[in-house]
Amino acid sequence: MTPEATPRRTVLLAGAGSAAALATGCGSDGDDGGSTSPTPDPTSSPTTGPTSGPTSGPASSAPAGKALAKTSVIPVGGGTIFKEEKVVVTQPTAGEFKAFSAICTHQGCTVAKVENGTIDCLCHGSKFRIANGSVARGPAARPLPAEQITVSGDTITLAYPVAHDSEGPGA
Ligand code: FES
Repeated sequence: MTPEATPRRTVLLAGAGSAAALATGCGSDGDDGGSTSPTPDPTSSPTTGPTSGPTSGPASSAPAGKALAKTSVIPVGGGTIFKEEKVVVTQPTAGEFKAFSAICTHQGCTVAKVENGTIDCLCHGSKFRIANGSVARGPAARPLPAEQITVSGDTITLAYPVAHDSEGPGA
């Protein structure tokens, strides 16, 4: 008539049994094994320690950045605008490469051409010197910010904060 009584009692008994077993186990360990309990612990902890150290070391030696162009495409005394990267790379004198933001400091247009020693914005006519990005003609009042590039052999690499498209080391 009371089918619930049986399962509930079974559960209670099982619970009491396991609790008693736990209590007994704890009690005997605590009393006798106070000095012997450290034995199982040291075997597990040293394995996690050394594995986290050496993994971060060698990864940082790879140069972070994006190959932008060959040096041969940058005219001496001029420059090339990379609209996608929003960067302009100039070569004021042979073998000397500079890079600047291609975003005009006046109102944010992308500069349009490099000509006669200046990087020109056609929106309102600002011009910036290829040697250092300084303003050659307003209305822009501030120079183009320099961008970080590295030249290795004949390749110009743009030093981005770290890109997301370098996932194919096997190719
Ligand atoms: Fe370049 Fe105005 S945005 S001159």
